[in-house]
Amino acid sequence: MRRAACPGSFDPVTNGHLDIITRAASLFDEVIVAVGVNKSKQRLFTAEERIDMLTEVCEPFPNVVIADFQGLLTDFCKERGVHAIVKGLRAVSDFDYELQMAQMNSSLADIETVFVPTSPEYSFLASSLVKEVATFGGDVSSLVPPTVLARLTVRLDERRAAEM
Ligand code: PNS
Repeated sequence: MRRAACPGSFDPVTNGHLDIITRAASLFDEVIVAVGVNKSKQRLFTAEERIDMLTEVCEPFPNVVIADFQGLLTDFCKERGVHAIVKGLRAVSDFDYELQMAQMNSSLADIETVFVPTSPEYSFLASSLVKEVATFGGDVSSLVPPTVLARLTVRLDERRAAEM
């Protein structure tokens, strides 16, 4: 069985992530969406919330499972029998950092990184930008799945209320 990991922080999952996960699911027998849990990083959504959203949006794909991980991605891949890490490349600006990570990961473990070009309609999309635009009232409904939009609206309303 060829098993791949799609790692990320997914804070929150966007349509761009979903594009890459969908395409990875057509290339591999099993895809593990690996949610990085870095406790020192401030996130809008908890790891549990990010996993819940991913579980909902990946429900149509029988060969996609969601898992969290702490520490090195390569250790997670070794533990779970993962042969390949799938990463989306949005633009050339992603390439330098992704190449560096791919080479570091390959030096740590016998794991290939497979780069998948992001579909052009999502080439500008990043979770950080979605959060910023939504914070200032911009329309992000075409950029995230409906369940994420709903949770984002609630979370940002909670934040605004807490600041008042
Ligand atoms: O969505 P992000 O924030 O770009 O995801 C980054 C993530 C979680 C994929 C990356 O930071 C990661 O792999 N972290 C685990 C720690 C690790 O293995 N570091 C060495 C990378 S070469």
